[in-house]
Amino acid sequence: MSFSLIAAVAKNNCIGKDNKIPWNVPEDFQYFRKTTLGKTCLMGQKTFESILGYLGKPLPGRQTVVITLDTNFKAPEGVRVFYSLDEAWNALKDEDVFVCGGASIYKQTLNKVDTLYITWIDQEPDGDVFFPTIDLNIWKEIWREDHEGFSFVKYTR
Ligand SMILES: NC(=O)c1ccc[n+]([C@@H]2O[C@H](COP(=O)([O-])OP(=O)(O)OC[C@H]3O[C@@H](n4cnc5c(N)ncnc54)[C@H](OP(=O)(O)O)[C@@H]3O)[C@@H](O)[C@H]2O)c1
Repeated sequence: MSFSLIAAVAKNNCIGKDNKIPWNVPEDFQYFRKTTLGKTCLMGQKTFESILGYLGKPLPGRQTVVITLDTNFKAPEGVRVFYSLDEAWNALKDEDVFVCGGASIYKQTLNKVDTLYITWIDQEPDGDVFFPTIDLNIWKEIWREDHEGFSFVKYTR
């Protein structure tokens, strides 16, 4: 039973542009898959639409939970929908939850999660959504794996 956050973040804190990821790092998609498999993935409605755009379906092998204010939003079968973050947080407290974005959800949950899984992308792309600043007085790096062009880093409080 845990709340973690997973994100790929560029050097300028950019995480997206035009509701897409503005880089192509297949190793990060594999890392995201391996880390979140079997877990609950909590995301905002725009990120959910973005995933549908890439995959044509929700993330396989994971429980998708979408947050929206749109009461007309129709989720595919198996996808749970909540109309407030607090409501979702409460309902998911007995599950292993990964906050999967996007920017608005990261901003609202950074102070609520216990662990951050950040892939630092060694690029400075043009973007329209950004990750909030990670306060290193609060977050301690506990694990790191450096690769050509990106690093996987885990932080805990
Ligand atoms: N690099 C990465 O790791 C990563 C990961 C995920 C996403 N992204 C990128 O992030 C971007 C999307 O981020 P975003 O900030 O635009 O959108 P988002 O956070 O995915 O979704 C925003 C939507 O979530 C709903 N929402 C947010 N807070 C809510 C609350 N407290 N209560 C109820 N509903 C709430 C609202 O939906 P309604 O408008 O329907 O009410 C809001 O419009 C895309 O570019 C995507 O590619 C990047």
